[in-house]
Parts: sequence; structure tokens; C-alpha cells
Amino acid sequence: VPAASGSLQWAVVTCYISEVQRRSSFIYLDNAATTIVHHQVASFMTDAMRECFANPSSRHGLGLSADRRVQDVRRSLASRLCCREEQVIFTSGGTEANALAILGTISSAKKKRHALVSAIEHPSIRATARMLERLDVAVEEIPVTEGGWVAPEEVKHRLRPETVLLAVMHVNNETGVLQPVEEISEYIKHTRPDCLFLVDAVQSFGHIPLDIHRLGADLLTLSAHKIHGPKGVGCLALGRDVHVARLWGGGDQEGGRRPGTENVPGIVGFGKAVEVCPVGAEHLAQLNRLFLEMVEEKLPQARALGDATRRAPHIVSLAFAGIPSEVLLNALEREGVIASSGSACHGRRGLHSHVLEAMRVPRHMGVVRFSFSRMTSEGEVREAAEILASVVVSLKDLPKRR
Ligand SMILES: Cc1ncc(COP(=O)(O)O)c(C=O)c1O
Repeated sequence: VPAASGSLQWAVVTCYISEVQRRSSFIYLDNAATTIVHHQVASFMTDAMRECFANPSSRHGLGLSADRRVQDVRRSLASRLCCREEQVIFTSGGTEANALAILGTISSAKKKRHALVSAIEHPSIRATARMLERLDVAVEEIPVTEGGWVAPEEVKHRLRPETVLLAVMHVNNETGVLQPVEEISEYIKHTRPDCLFLVDAVQSFGHIPLDIHRLGADLLTLSAHKIHGPKGVGCLALGRDVHVARLWGGGDQEGGRRPGTENVPGIVGFGKAVEVCPVGAEHLAQLNRLFLEMVEEKLPQARALGDATRRAPHIVSLAFAGIPSEVLLNALEREGVIASSGSACHGRRGLHSHVLEAMRVPRHMGVVRFSFSRMTSEGEVREAAEILASVVVSLKDLPKRR
């Protein structure tokens, strides 16, 4: 702004400040994409970066102390998941954990084999599973019901003697629908004990208690940033002594299964997040109930996706006929409500996701996902529901473009 135009300059500055103020007070309801880092996690990580900078593979005292911090977190995770410490492999997050689970267990192809992957898996599983085709593994998709869950019968029909891998996630990231993982694992354990069962628990960890044996998972994947921890760290946990081959060369870290210097601050932050955010869903269930009650009262035309009896409490996806998701999301953001159109992985591309396709949600339905965390307050949920109602009403009143 030229110095001469004093009043214009002042107007621009005032405008800028009010925009910043407006944007700094928002209601964050996109916790399935990522959560806000807990302040105790952030300060713990900052201290770890300063004090615990040594390489955990170094054999001097500083290195040994960094290694101890990593092993403490491994022990804590193993005890929560009910597996052994050496069965926890740290990775750079859920995506890598899923890739390691798939590609690290099914390597050299000796004869034609078969893998089953549910139609609603996260892209990190779907895309990696497709890579198996190069290894002479035929990959088949398991359909889901309109309620968004995998019927165990669909798995039973498709299992073959040569099926080496089955992937069914625990909680779907777009709809929050909990999958009947225990029932499925019970069946495969008795009929196809050689088939490995991969359960992506990225969206259930922290909300639902996870016992790897009770779930019947051979491979279980987690990510820290969904539970108020840092991004770029997660793990693959093993339910039995499965051989996991490294995906690239390098050092002997993580029992030789994941070479590369460990992300010590990230791992330490993961451990702290687990400690400060104990498993619990009561608060989330209350928020979810309140939000849905208000939405149902104000917007009877809204449709909550997924079987209501199977939904986890922290995610609710609402469909609105005739309003495109992006239009609704932008309008909500202008009013300070941050939500998303489903998976963050394709949200920006504005596609009708593979999950909505699999559930046969018509394309003219705009879908918005609201996801809560333990940091979300009741007041925020009430306000968000009010804003949503007024935004939907105002968009309905807009003249339609020809
Ligand atoms: C179900 C599910 N699996 C895997 C991932 C990937 O985890 P990360 O972001 O740690 O790579 C996500 C992230 O959104 C997810 O929701």
C-alpha cells in the first residue's frame, strides 16, 4: 500500500486484522484427518529434541539413553495392544505401516496367489494392494453393504485355499462405521489359518480398546497424529510371529525390518500422546448424540451415512441432496467451521470417494464429514450444528446455475 494513501492503508490493515481474528477463532471438526497436537506432547517432544538428540544406534551413553526412550514407548504400546515388544515396528505413520504390512509379508511369488481387500480401505491399502499384482498375486475387492460394513459372508464366499492376505479396516475413516473384524477373524482362523489378516486401526486407536489377539489381527497398523500426537510416526504391530521383510536396504533398526535412524522425537511424542489421551469414547459419544439430535431437528433432510448401530462416536458423515460438498464446505469455513468432504487423501480433488461409491451413495448427494476429538467442547458442537443449519438453508435458497 503506498505510504501516501494513509486512510486506505489503515483500512487495509484493519481489514487484515479482522480477517486474522475471524480465522483464528474456528471450530475444528476435522479430527479424522488429523488432531491438534496436545500441548504436553509438543513440549515433551521439544525437550526430547534438545536433550535426546543422539542416534539410538550409537553405543555411547547419549545414544543408549535415546534408545531407552524408544524402547520405553515400544513397551508401552506393546502392553496396550497385548503383544510382545519385538512385535511393534515403528514407521513413518499409518501409510507406511500399511505398505510394510502388505509388501513386507508377501514378497517373492512362487505360485499364483490371492489377496482380499475390502472396498472401503484407506488408499494406502488399496493402492499398495494393487502393487501386489506385479508379484503375481490376484487382488479381489470385498463389497460392502449400503450401511458401509463388510458382511462376513462376503469374505467367506471369496476366501480361497491360495488366499494369503485379507485386509479389513477397524473403523472407516469416512463414515466411522465399525467393521465386524472379530467375527471375520474367528472364521479365517478356523478355515484358512495361513491367511494373514491385516486390520488398519488408525481410526479406532484411542477410541476403542485394542487387544490384537481379541481382534484376531496378524497385522495391525496405527498412526500417532489421530490421537493428538505428531505426524510422521506410527507403527505396525504383529499378532503372531510373522516374518516381515524390509522394503529397502540400510541399517538394522526395528529388528532389520525398517531400516533408517529412528524418529526419536516423533516416537517419544507418540508415547506421550498415548499416555495423555487414554482410551475413552464417552465424551465423544455425547458430542455425537448432541450433534445428530440438533441436525435431525433442524435439517430433517440430512442423511447420516452408515449403519447407525455400528458407528464409532468420533465421525459422522452427513449427505445433503443437491448441494455439492465443496460448496457446503466453503460456506461452513467462511462461518468458521472446519470439516471435510471425507478422506483428506482425495478431499481436495473433490471426487466422489471410493467409499461413497461402494455404499452406493448417489452422486448428487453432497457429503460432509464432521469428526470430533476429546478437545472438542459441547459448546462448539452446538454452535457448529446451528451454523450448519443456517448454511444449508441459505444454500438451498440460492438460485440454481443452469
Ligand atoms: C484409516 C486410515 N489408515 C491410514 C491412514 C494413513 O495414516 P498416516 O496419515 O499416518 O500416513 C489414515 C490417515 O488418514 C487413515 O485414516
